[in-house]
Amino acid sequence: MTDDAPSHRMTYGGYLQLDELLTLQDGPQGYSPAPSNDEQHFIIVHQAFELWFKLILRELKETHALLNQEHVPEEKLPQMVHHLDRVTEIFRLLSNQWKVMETLTPQGFLAFRDKLGTSSGFESWQMRELEVLLGLDNAQRMGGMDPLLHMKKLAKEGKVTESVLADFEATSNQPSLREALSSWLARTPINGSLAGSEGDSKAIESFVDGHVEAMRTHGEEVIAHIVAIGHGEEAPVRARIEAGTEQAAEFLRPDGIISRSRAGLLFIESYRELPLLSWPRKLIDSFVGLEQSMLLFRSAHARMVERMIGRRMGTGGSSGVDYLDATTKYRVFVDLWAVRTMLVKREALPNVEQAEFYGFAAND
Ligand code: HEM
Repeated sequence: MTDDAPSHRMTYGGYLQLDELLTLQDGPQGYSPAPSNDEQHFIIVHQAFELWFKLILRELKETHALLNQEHVPEEKLPQMVHHLDRVTEIFRLLSNQWKVMETLTPQGFLAFRDKLGTSSGFESWQMRELEVLLGLDNAQRMGGMDPLLHMKKLAKEGKVTESVLADFEATSNQPSLREALSSWLARTPINGSLAGSEGDSKAIESFVDGHVEAMRTHGEEVIAHIVAIGHGEEAPVRARIEAGTEQAAEFLRPDGIISRSRAGLLFIESYRELPLLSWPRKLIDSFVGLEQSMLLFRSAHARMVERMIGRRMGTGGSSGVDYLDATTKYRVFVDLWAVRTMLVKREALPNVEQAEFYGFAAND
């Protein structure tokens, strides 16, 4: 018999392992009473989310493998953008998926809520792993929660397997995507100067000082304009604009030392018309798009929960909606958001030095 004989033919159900998959929506073994229609809906929606989380983790790990290298080949940038854009779309889809959850009425949920005990999405190890992989700083988490310690506790109680813990530890012990991105940005050639090359410190200093100066000059124009059109008194307007410029100067020189990573980021965002910078800028934008989409997903979850359980405590023991709303303040890619505040219109910026370095190869 050959492989394409009817009995060996690959089938839809066989390929997708549907027999196994479709037996998993009735609750854990021996679960009684069997889930009602509402409860099965609840289980299916959760499982669908977890399947998408699985794919998100895979996409992010692929991105991580490409980005977390000492030399990131230029031609790999589109591939990273592709992975990240897929994750953005999945989060967008998931934001809408809460609408399906919302077809469960508050009373319909209360009918089986007690059966859940203390189980909660709070224990979703895939969601936690993707936060760690992205690089969410623990200091931002409510109560400074340490997800690795939490996962170890769950493993000790037998609530997650050793293999889940091992995977989680591996992700926790490597540089996050945020850190890998920062290292890559620190290697950005700025005004044609390569990181670590002779005279680089001077070149970076001059770029940073030039930008802050451009902000000051532009700030003066903005102040004069606002006062001229009668939209404010000079003193408060000046204080606000100058504080913005000071913040930018500090951002670029945290603790008095220039951050090459932030300078690189500012350079890419400022001179986006340079051909060599267009994919790096697209990559940065993909990270921002992903985080925005994830935040909208978090907000939509909070609104769905508010509609479902009001201001009650969550099954995981948190304050519920207030906790979920607090998670919408999280920012993983803090620098990528912050740099937006300090951009200056292109005509007001100093010209790029060694612009030919960033040209199309065909223009050489
Ligand atoms: C009736 C539907 C739902 C309600 C009322 C609800 C409620 C809550 C509440 C109150 C929390 C805060 C933690 C706690 O105290 O339990 C939470 C967290 C969470 N839920 Fe839901 N949820 C629902 C559906 C879902 C679904 C379908 C998913 C998909 C996997 C999900 C994923 C999560 C995750 C990942 C967290 C942790 C958020 C974080 O810590 O950043 N939830 N949920």
